[in-house]
Amino acid sequence: MDLTQDYLEEIDHTARGFAEFFDELPLWSAPFGLMLLDRVPVGAGLTVLDVGAGTGFLTIELAERCGAGARVIAVDPWKDAMDRLRRKVAQRGLENIVLLEQDAAALDLPDASVDLIVSNLGINNFDAPGAVLQECFRIARPGARLVLTTNLVGHMAEFYEAYHSVLTDLGDADSLARFDAQVAHRGTAESVESLLRSAGFTIVESALDSFRMRFADGSALLRHHFIRLGFVPGWKAVAAPGSLEKTFEMLERRLNEMAREHGNLALTIPMACLVARK
Ligand SMILES: C[S@@+](CC[C@H](N)C(=O)[O-])C[C@H]1O[C@@H](n2cnc3c(N)ncnc32)[C@H](O)[C@@H]1O
Repeated sequence: MDLTQDYLEEIDHTARGFAEFFDELPLWSAPFGLMLLDRVPVGAGLTVLDVGAGTGFLTIELAERCGAGARVIAVDPWKDAMDRLRRKVAQRGLENIVLLEQDAAALDLPDASVDLIVSNLGINNFDAPGAVLQECFRIARPGARLVLTTNLVGHMAEFYEAYHSVLTDLGDADSLARFDAQVAHRGTAESVESLLRSAGFTIVESALDSFRMRFADGSALLRHHFIRLGFVPGWKAVAAPGSLEKTFEMLERRLNEMAREHGNLALTIPMACLVARK
C-alpha cells in the first residue's frame, strides 16, 4: 500500500462551514461527558456555566435535564460553534440557555452568580487555565460546585512509545526534548487538583477511568478525521521541521508493525473527573 501523507495538511477548524459538519457530540468527548453527567448535581432552578462549551452538547443536555427553571450559560470564543449552538437552541425552542462568545478568563458575569460550573475537556485547551479557574471562582456562589473532565498524562501511551522509538532512531535531541514537554503537558489528577486549589476551590472527588480507541493500524489512525484535527498538529510540532515527512513515514511504519503484532492498534485514554466546591 502506497499512501500519500495528506494527513500532514492541517484542518482549519475556523474555516467557514467547518462547525456545520463537526459532530454534535464528538465520540472523543462522549466518555468524558458521561463521566461528568454521572457526577454533576442536577436541580431545578440552578444557574449553570458550561466553560469551553464548543457546539454545546453538554449545555443542551444540562438545560433539558435540569428543566425550564434552570438557566445554562455556554461560554466559548469559537464563533462558528456558538452560531451553531444558537441555531440548535432556537430549533428546539429552549428558552433557558444564554450564549457568551468570549474568553472564559474574563467573563461578563457578576460575582457569586453561578451554582454549578462544568467543563468537558476544557482545561487542556485554555491558554491560561489558572486565569479561567480564578474567574470561575469569582463568579461561583459560596458552596457552588465545579465539575470538570480532562485526559491525563499517559494519554495514548502506546502511540507515544512508538513515536519515542522513532525519534530515538533519528537521534535528534531537540525533537526528543519537545516530545518530553508534550507528554508532560497533559496534567496528572494531582496537577489539576493543585490548579483548582490555587484558584480557591476545595476538592470533593477525584475520579479516574480510562477507555481505548482501536484502529486497524497506524495508517488508519493518522488519517482519521478527529485524530487529524485534534492530535496530528501537536505530533507534527515535535518532529524536526526538516525531516517531518521522513519522521511520519517511519512512525506510520512502526505503528503498522505494532498493529500487525497485536491484531490492531489500541490506544489507552486515561480520564479524570474532578468535583470541587467553592
Ligand atoms: C476540546 S473542546 C471541548 C468542547 C466541548 N466541551 C466538548 O466536550 O466536546 C475545547 C473547547 O474549549 C474552547 N476554548 C478554548 N479556549 C477557551 C477559553 N479561553 N475560554 C473558553 N473556551 C475556550 C474551544 O474553543 C473548544 O470549543
